[in-house]
Amino acid sequence: MKLLVFAGSTRQQSFNRRLAAVAAGIGQELGAQATLLELGDYDIPLYHAELEARGTPPDVIRLKEAMDAHPAWIVCSPEYNGSYTGLLKNALDWASSPVAGHPVWADGARPFGGKVVGMLSASNGALGGLRSQSHLAPLLINLGCWLAPRQYALARAASAFDEQGQLADSAAREQVQAVVQQVLWAAGRLHGAA
Ligand SMILES: Cc1cc2nc3c(=O)[nH]c(=O)nc-3n(C[C@H](O)[C@H](O)[C@H](O)COP(=O)(O)O)c2cc1C
Repeated sequence: MKLLVFAGSTRQQSFNRRLAAVAAGIGQELGAQATLLELGDYDIPLYHAELEARGTPPDVIRLKEAMDAHPAWIVCSPEYNGSYTGLLKNALDWASSPVAGHPVWADGARPFGGKVVGMLSASNGALGGLRSQSHLAPLLINLGCWLAPRQYALARAASAFDEQGQLADSAAREQVQAVVQQVLWAAGRLHGAA
């Protein structure tokens, strides 16, 4: 199973990027082919329609291709003001925007339809960014994703990782593993051994 893992942050010391790395490692251990995608590696401008009319940026196409190639996803969503980040929204908006006349990407929902998605979040706050997930969920469902019922929010994230970038608390790691496991299980049933 091909598993795509990405975070809605590009911050150097991002808790969510670190959580994404942990989830990708767990995915590998569980036998998946995990891709850790960094949104910072994609040159994606702020969406606006006139810019798009001049041509969809090549890195948006690259992002659509990466999403489309992976039946299973884990999204690590930071919380800004009780919601997910503008960075994540911008990337998802571009990825869902149809490319007029394109042989593959004329259907905007294509990179999303049928994907099995697990949501994680991390914050130094007591709720671990959980509220970002409650806003992200309807967006993903609206685009045709199947959301895993298991989710996990890592609270007090500033002290959650050890020097190797692993989760210090085994109970937290088990929670992440349970989400990844469920996503791989469901994606296997929806997509076969893709
Ligand atoms: C504009 C802004 C709003 C924020 N709002 C929240 C919030 O509502 N809840 C929360 O737990 N943390 C909030 N934070 C703190 C973030 O969780 C923190 O910056 C975190 O490190 C972001 O995720 P990252 O480490 O993956 O980049 C906010 C940060 C910013 C910049």
